[in-house]
Amino acid sequence: MTLRDPETAPRRANESHASFLLIVPFVVTTMLALAACAEPAVESPMRAVVGEKALMTTVLEPAADLYWAAVGEIVTAEGVEQIRPQSDEEWVAVRNAAVVLAESGNLLLVGRRARDEGAWLDWSRELTDAGEEAMRAAESRDPDAVFDVGERVYFACRGCHEQYWPEGLP
Ligand code: HEC
Repeated sequence: MTLRDPETAPRRANESHASFLLIVPFVVTTMLALAACAEPAVESPMRAVVGEKALMTTVLEPAADLYWAAVGEIVTAEGVEQIRPQSDEEWVAVRNAAVVLAESGNLLLVGRRARDEGAWLDWSRELTDAGEEAMRAAESRDPDAVFDVGERVYFACRGCHEQYWPEGLP
């Protein structure tokens, strides 16, 4: 084996190759660390089964319609007819619809349904809070409270639609 002049080109090439080999594991480790930050350590156990539209029409809309229809007034020629739940079963149905609305706020955040962590999150939480208030109103069997909270529920739906589904507004 011949001793080489330390200033010869092949030696320099080897050196730069060696430092490149040191950089590669560093870059890979950094990339793995960044990937670990981007992905949650444990994958969510929840799985969205239907699309957003179907969630609206099968879960949110029927519950909201039942809740909104529970209390109100119909003006007729004979006078004003008050609409109120008429039995225990009807009150329980109103309460159950409110629970569905409250929990729907959570369903809107499952997996890819959550469009962002800003307004989408806020409107979903607002629906959960409004639904919970609606649940309490129904549990206390207070028709005026059920009516008033119905407005809060409506604005939670409408607020999100204005921002994320403007073409659907009347
Ligand atoms: C966090 C946002 C958000 C909230 C809260 C929300 N929606 Fe929606 N909703 C949407 C989006 C986005 C669409 C459009 C979906 C599409 O066309 O893909 C939609 C569409 C709908 C549709 C139309 C579905 C169809 O057939 O095209 C109905 C009905 C509906 N929503 C009802 C409701 C009701 C009732 C509430 C409240 C109880 C509500 N939504 C609350 C985001 C929301």
